[in-house]
Amino acid sequence: MTLLEVEGLCVRFPTRRGLVRAVDGVDLTVEEGEVLALVGESGCGKTTLARTIVGLERAQEGTVRFEGKEVRGRGRARPMRDYRRRVQMVFQDPTGALNPRQTIYEAVAEGLRVHHMGQDEERRVADALSRSGLRPPERFFTRYPHEVSGGQRQRVVIAGAMVLEPRLLVADEPVSSLDASVRGEILGLMRNLVDTTGVAMLVVTHDLGLAWNIAERVAVMYLGRIVEVGRAEEVLQSPQHPYTQALLSVVPEAKHVEQQILQGETPDPAAIPPGCRFHPRCPLYQSGDAEELGIAQQCRTVDLGLAPIANDHVVACHARA
Ligand SMILES: Nc1ncnc2c1ncn2[C@@H]1O[C@H](COP(=O)(O)OP(=O)(O)OP(=O)(O)O)[C@@H](O)[C@H]1O
Ligand SMILES: [Mg+2]
Repeated sequence: MTLLEVEGLCVRFPTRRGLVRAVDGVDLTVEEGEVLALVGESGCGKTTLARTIVGLERAQEGTVRFEGKEVRGRGRARPMRDYRRRVQMVFQDPTGALNPRQTIYEAVAEGLRVHHMGQDEERRVADALSRSGLRPPERFFTRYPHEVSGGQRQRVVIAGAMVLEPRLLVADEPVSSLDASVRGEILGLMRNLVDTTGVAMLVVTHDLGLAWNIAERVAVMYLGRIVEVGRAEEVLQSPQHPYTQALLSVVPEAKHVEQQILQGETPDPAAIPPGCRFHPRCPLYQSGDAEELGIAQQCRTVDLGLAPIANDHVVACHARA
């Protein structure tokens, strides 16, 4: 069953440099109970996409459907309020996400109050803390965020999300601000919550190795667009898009992929190239292989969408079309 369906999503920011097309026609689904990793280099639009999905940013075009129903940022309050409970976001920096003057109990209880789930409050808070690995939970009730470690702070944030019994967690680089030594534990916790509660998770990361360890499926984003999606083993073991191949070639786990260094300037979402947006940096195009394959003209002029190449594996590349 599809939980979340994103179609043709565009999010643009007017800036002094011109119109920044941070999210530029994204199609994406999250299935019930799965972990989908969203990977791509810095500035490709991952955070903007995540924030738009949870309703913190407004899209100029496209739709977001949740459990089959379109989600609206404006309009009647009820469905949006329900959506805001059922889709929870975990941010990169737990310190910034927590109010320093609020106890851990208050931090976790706050959402319950906002969403009128206050009955059994203390039991719910204790249960959420305990399931997030803060045991015994009562020991944490009266402590403040600065009195616990970074990893424990992220556990508090996760407890504050899970206490609302969401169907989808959107986690933006949930471990990148943490000590390397606790990253694995927090990821293990998140994976365990998915397995035990059935919550689905969209996890944003620029770390393909991490995606490999935690996700069922991987979506690769380049300059505002998804360019490849498939089952994690498949995308990581037989990446089809030249961009995915380049990303993977620097991951230690991917010894099978030939080392590639991307040519060209880092991409600018205020000046997205025509045709395939990756062609100015594409090894296949730059090496002349695309010319030989007779597709160079298309690479320069035709902006193509995702097309299936195998079961559940889609890619946007003229060489694979
Ligand atoms: N509020 C904003 N106003 C103007 N430009 C923005 C805004 N938010 C994001 N951008 C621009 O949109 C593009 C995508 O940014 P975003 O933060 O979504 O990327 P990201 O993939 O999350 O990057 P990172 O891996 O560094 O976190 C960037 O060029 C960024 O500068
Ligand atoms: Mg980001």
